[in-house]
Amino acid sequence: REFIIGIDLGGTNCRLALVDEGGQVLDGRRFSSRGYERGRDLIERLVSECRNLIEGADNQGARVSAVGAGVPGLVDAQGQVVTAPNLGFLNGIPFAQDLAERLKLPVAAMNDANAIAWGEKIWGAGKDLHSSLTVTLGTGVGGGLILADRLWIGVDGSAGEFGHINVEPEGPPCGCGSRGCLEQYSSATGILRSVRAALGAGQASCLAKLEPEALTSAEVGRAARNEDALAVEVLQDAGRRLGQALAGVANLLNLDGVVICGGVAESLDLLLPSLQEELFRRAFERPARRLQIVAGTLGDNAGILGAALFGSKPDVVWAA
Ligand code: BGC
Ligand code: NA
Ligand code: ZN
Repeated sequence: REFIIGIDLGGTNCRLALVDEGGQVLDGRRFSSRGYERGRDLIERLVSECRNLIEGADNQGARVSAVGAGVPGLVDAQGQVVTAPNLGFLNGIPFAQDLAERLKLPVAAMNDANAIAWGEKIWGAGKDLHSSLTVTLGTGVGGGLILADRLWIGVDGSAGEFGHINVEPEGPPCGCGSRGCLEQYSSATGILRSVRAALGAGQASCLAKLEPEALTSAEVGRAARNEDALAVEVLQDAGRRLGQALAGVANLLNLDGVVICGGVAESLDLLLPSLQEELFRRAFERPARRLQIVAGTLGDNAGILGAALFGSKPDVVWAA
């Protein structure tokens, strides 16, 4: 039996597992991706986690043949991190090369949202969509663009940076160096930023009672379901900004769907009315109506699966 190791490195957590040809995920592990001083320290941690997985496979008489990794930033064709807005210690790290040298295995690295998009395309919610945008709502906002059944990565590998589309000219500063990016409103971190700003301005909410560490986007979702006005408003705004950015995408690309993934997707029903309203208000009716908006179906495994697929067949991506 043969396995690929799939790594989903996110802005907050890193997950990895063995994946077989049928897309079965085995022996999953997870650790925090925060708090590393240098990119190489995180690589070292990954090397030891991968070695544990390889040993586990060995004990079952199986072999690990390759590694695929999704990384939360711009990744070039050589698997080097160009820039990672929410994990700055990775900037400039030759991620794939470092890992390959240490593990003595072929390693392919790609953008994390691209990996999730590819996982959902092959095994999840994107199966029947030929041209789609997968949007990840987590620590950041990511995008993975599939055009005519292939993953479009652009001329340098950096296509799909949906989260850094501007939705408010002079909005809050963003990790990418700009201001008012979609990520500042519709990511888990952006939602919390909006909640804190409203609480700071004296708006009443049941969220004011929570300890700072207990304030999560899941709590905001729960509060909104209990009709907390501030929580409802912040999630509606997150949806509206998504709709605003998606209107541009619909007009530009005339896609057949959008797959929404990541922790915030659990609140998709709360975002959807304002998202749809804004989409139809701003886009041409024809491409707006065509755009099916669905939730991802692979959950936390999407990135691991997509990265493993990429590790086994790095030529799935479509560059210019
Ligand atoms: C980064 C993307 C990444 C996304 C999700 C964004 O801030 O620019 O490259 O895919 O966060 O991690
Ligand atoms: Na992307
Ligand atoms: Zn930005």
